[in-house]
Amino acid sequence: MVRTVLLGPPGAGKGTQAARLVEKYNVPHISTGDIFRENIKNGTELGKKAQEYMNKGELVPDDLVIDIATDRLKRDDCKNGFLLDGFPRTVYQAEKLDEFLKKEGVSLDKVIDIEVEDQELVDRLTGRRVCKSCGASYNVKNIPPKEEGVCDKCHGDLEQRADDKEETVLNRIKVYTEQTMPLVDYYKKTDRLVEIDGALGLEVVFQQIVEALGK
Ligand code: AP5
Ligand code: MG
Repeated sequence: MVRTVLLGPPGAGKGTQAARLVEKYNVPHISTGDIFRENIKNGTELGKKAQEYMNKGELVPDDLVIDIATDRLKRDDCKNGFLLDGFPRTVYQAEKLDEFLKKEGVSLDKVIDIEVEDQELVDRLTGRRVCKSCGASYNVKNIPPKEEGVCDKCHGDLEQRADDKEETVLNRIKVYTEQTMPLVDYYKKTDRLVEIDGALGLEVVFQQIVEALGK
């Protein structure tokens, strides 16, 4: 069982690694970014509010995020663990998450911090293509699909994410540094942080995370 957070800047590989980790550990992958994108696609009120911030590369306000994440964690499939991706993203969110888990009588075992330098993040994100149908992620430069524009797994169409334009990517990295990096110290203090070099290949990064989780 794992109760883990994947921390790291936009483009570090959180979603890519999460897709593999959930298969190994059989726990749900909870990405607040994916939840917002699903709401945007369905035209919900939440989606409309979130979209304003996401398109600029800003964080969605804490009060909109925390209930969504904790409601998701209350579902039965999280009883035996979970993998959080992109939540928490501010110290306030991290405190609220700790409070919530304490009330449930559990705690986070590890926080995996995947770090990659800025220029590589920009290259990865501007080259990212995501499947419209199944969400699988590719990269035109280093992880291309077999056929251009087509998903290897489900043959769905590939598209670029609305916030993957260079200008928005640069702001997302800035926002990460200012608002999310303080979480590194927050988790270091409580001895839960594991730092992983995300610049290495997919397989090596995966093996390092599995080793860190120790299960
Ligand atoms: P979110 O969806 O969480 O995006 P993000 O954190 O910006 O991260 P990404 O999904 O862009 O990157 P990733 O680390 O998952 O990388 P990936 O594996 O795809 O959030 C989006 C927005 O929602 C936020 O900006 C904010 O507005 C809002 N939001 C969400 N949660 C929030 C919260 N808690 N509070 C407030 N606001 C919130 O990989 C990227 C690319 O690199 C891919 O092309 C991939 O193929 C490639 N790649 C991956 N690993 C490697 C590797 N090892 N080597 C080479 N290439 C690689
Ligand atoms: Mg992601």
